Amino acid sequence: MAVKPIVIYGDPVLRRKADEIAEIDRETKILVDDLIATLKNAGGLGLAAPQIGVSKKVFIIDLSSIDLTESIKVFINPRIIYSSENEVVIEEGCLSFPGIFQRIQRPEKVKVTTTGLDGKEFTLEVSGMLARTIQHENDHLNGVLFIDHFSPLTRALVKGKLNKLKKMAAAS
Ligand code: NI
Repeated sequence: MAVKPIVIYGDPVLRRKADEIAEIDRETKILVDDLIATLKNAGGLGLAAPQIGVSKKVFIIDLSSIDLTESIKVFINPRIIYSSENEVVIEEGCLSFPGIFQRIQRPEKVKVTTTGLDGKEFTLEVSGMLARTIQHENDHLNGVLFIDHFSPLTRALVKGKLNKLKKMAAAS
């Protein structure tokens, strides 16, 4: 279990479509442990494998900092099989974009089918912050980033910040 450096915007791994996990083996378990350690250290709500440089379909969510009844959830090879027509606006941040927070509109509810660390497939139907973080993290597995959901105006406003992050990524 190790804290890994978080990949910053500008690194091409964030734009890659992640590979399916063929088998939940020792390597997968180490990857999940690393994600957990890295997220705990960084203090975010979710983290996807590409954000630590591993282009595989895994992400974790930990909402315990905002809801004490929540525990860490692991999603392997997730698929969003339903998104509600109704959309809500919630502020999002991303550990790969330090200092950038924006209100983003997305479906209020989703249904996701995924595999857990025990290898069993299950389906969750969720709303609220869990639905929001699942959509954000699932995007990471498809090379989609939260800035892709910004309006053209917002994108223009954060352009300077994004260029700075790209320089940081290039220097690291
Ligand atoms: Ni993110």
